[in-house]
Amino acid sequence: MPIIEDAIQAVMKKAVALAPDSFIPGGKPDPLIRHRHGLIGAPISRIDGPLKVSGRATFAAEFPKENLTCAALKYSTIARGRIARIDTAAAEAAPGVALVMTYKNAPRLEPMPPFMSQPKAAGGDDVPIMQDDQIHWNGQPVALVLAETQEQADHAQSLIEVGYEAASDGVTSLEAAKAKGSEPGVFQGEPLKLEIKDAEAMLAAAPHQIDVRYTTPRHNHNPIEPHAATLAWEGDELRIHDTVQAVAHEAWTIAQVFGIDEAKVRVTSPYVGGGFGCKTLWQHQVLAAAAAKLAQRPVRIVLSREGMFRIVGGRTITEQRVALGARADGTLDALIHTGTVAMTPHNNMPEPFVLPARSAYASRSFLLDVETVRLNMTANTFMRAPGEAVGTFGLESAIDELADAMGIDPIELRIRNEPQTDPTTGMAFSQRGVVGVWKAGRERFGWEARGAPGARRDGDWLVGMGCAMGTYPYYRMPGGAARITLTKDGRAIVGVAAHEMGMGTSTAQTQIAAERLGLTMDAVTFEYGDTQLPGLVLAGGSQQTAAIGAAVIAAHHELVEALLKLAGNDSPLAGLKPDEVGGLDGGLCALDDESRCESYASILARAKREAVTVEAEAPMPLELQHWSMHSHSALFCEVGVNAVTGEVRVRRFLGSFDCGRIINPKTAASQFRGGIVMGLGLALMEETRFDERTGRVINPSLAEYHLPVHFDVPRIDVIWSDEPDPHTPMGARGIGEIGITGVGAAVANAVFNATAKRVRDLPITLDKLL
Ligand code: MOS
Repeated sequence: MPIIEDAIQAVMKKAVALAPDSFIPGGKPDPLIRHRHGLIGAPISRIDGPLKVSGRATFAAEFPKENLTCAALKYSTIARGRIARIDTAAAEAAPGVALVMTYKNAPRLEPMPPFMSQPKAAGGDDVPIMQDDQIHWNGQPVALVLAETQEQADHAQSLIEVGYEAASDGVTSLEAAKAKGSEPGVFQGEPLKLEIKDAEAMLAAAPHQIDVRYTTPRHNHNPIEPHAATLAWEGDELRIHDTVQAVAHEAWTIAQVFGIDEAKVRVTSPYVGGGFGCKTLWQHQVLAAAAAKLAQRPVRIVLSREGMFRIVGGRTITEQRVALGARADGTLDALIHTGTVAMTPHNNMPEPFVLPARSAYASRSFLLDVETVRLNMTANTFMRAPGEAVGTFGLESAIDELADAMGIDPIELRIRNEPQTDPTTGMAFSQRGVVGVWKAGRERFGWEARGAPGARRDGDWLVGMGCAMGTYPYYRMPGGAARITLTKDGRAIVGVAAHEMGMGTSTAQTQIAAERLGLTMDAVTFEYGDTQLPGLVLAGGSQQTAAIGAAVIAAHHELVEALLKLAGNDSPLAGLKPDEVGGLDGGLCALDDESRCESYASILARAKREAVTVEAEAPMPLELQHWSMHSHSALFCEVGVNAVTGEVRVRRFLGSFDCGRIINPKTAASQFRGGIVMGLGLALMEETRFDERTGRVINPSLAEYHLPVHFDVPRIDVIWSDEPDPHTPMGARGIGEIGITGVGAAVANAVFNATAKRVRDLPITLDKLL
């Protein structure tokens, strides 16, 4: 098909136009959206891959420092009360010990501003850090030991003796917390409660009703790389090699804690061995920095797997009610999603499980509400698709229950309830291809082979299929900024204080920058993970690609302006305005006449410049004020449930995604698959267990807190629509969190189809099926 290939080549060669603020209202779409077969959309392997597989990528715990000490933490064994006595003499006398720090000798520190309390706040909680004798949760650090080796530090902390006095106001069970009363849930400063018409009355009057309760347990974060930092005070500056998804937030927050200028804290984080919401600021970095100050020595702190369960927050417990009222045709009169989540007294993260119900389905009335109760436990935090991952378990299980009760195919029921505009805000969708991904997935998965509940058997195995929808918002947080340096040899360095956590950021951003500039991949270096670079860019909320993209567009505008000035009147580009040129073949070209070009090298040489550097901030995320913006998925699962043992094996899984333009199909497929694998853990295994008498986590290890291993994961097929969103940078929406969303329900619905048993409490363990 040479004609088509020629046409593709022609599109590919087209210079990138410079539209003003292209993705915001009134602007033109980002010109990169039209580049369908260049670097955008190419399945390029990760540029950091060779470094990682050969062990040459230096992770946070691996930075060498002269005179380094190793840190170990001692954790409290009560949930609420005070330290009555603490005896550190034996630890201080132990071999290799350089320092034992407790509340008695720790430097004076301010509490961390917690996440979402201020724009740059990154603290997991706002408990005073080792400043007094008070205990707020079981596992709170009560002492830190520095020693010459990790083994010496670990041994010495075991020699510290602590006597506690328990307080009578400790709350260590959900029942006790509920008995104390609840408060309305507030997320990002907004109440989570949302009411449209009288949903309870419309439910009661509906001819078909479902009114059911679901629960999800606490989940702990378990990225492959534990939390770690290597840090040192260099004069009055604090230098931190960390593993973190928010370098700029961390630097600012630590500066508040120590009462110093944020410019005096330099955080770098070149590689992160998985983040998922937990690689932020917890007490360990602050304690290590405080100890480094006291001991006047560099410190390496690496949390053990148990340490991560003790001090790093997780996804909290939810109890959800989903009630659906439907007419005979299946359309919804009422959608009610309410319930209770557990929080702590010392941070402000509820699990906002009602978010999916705001935009997933049309309904004539809504009641969405989250109540919060308080327990003395490790802080809550973001964990991949916070809210959506567990909220879709309730919502999408209930839709399946309604479909079963009404005898309507669950995909058909969903399509009948597909909204034309956002059902709770009335805004237009920026782009929504939900029906398309349902249809594409249904055909590819072979959905027509699905039978009635409990009808299919393969030897000892009951076999069933289930489906569920996923939805996760497009976010773009304010604060993005980028720097571009173009050198006289025609190379570009693009710098943003962003993060690579293994998802392919550095690769995808190199592709995007190369495409925008008209350069080859190897002529572009993407710098990231360093507070000396511009931007307040969180690798979270699936927003990093958009945040970087918008900042790079802004910096690119500045760059083109600067280059046209340098090019002057002797250039073939003379007289052209910035939006009349684009990047092509290592230089700028007129958009309407590709014979009018000048290479970057030539422009800089004539201007006698070694390099040109520009820096710009991204515009405010106004697109979010004008459109309802979400990534979506249609998920398909086939399970076998052993009729004798109740064991569930996932046999096949398909994710069909609607996430706008896919920048790199190879890294995107890994994001989708990884999210689905994590969702299989949520569905079948993950559960943090507490001793309700003491509030202590009793399964703080991978031996007892189960995650999917290779044997648990079947072949996972992923497809996507690749339909550009005209209102986002590059036409892309987030893909980091949509993968896990809906997986719990897809598995539960498949288990129901296999067994005719409905499991409403995660995880779906075999005891619930016998
Ligand atoms: Mo994510 S939970 O926003 O890292």
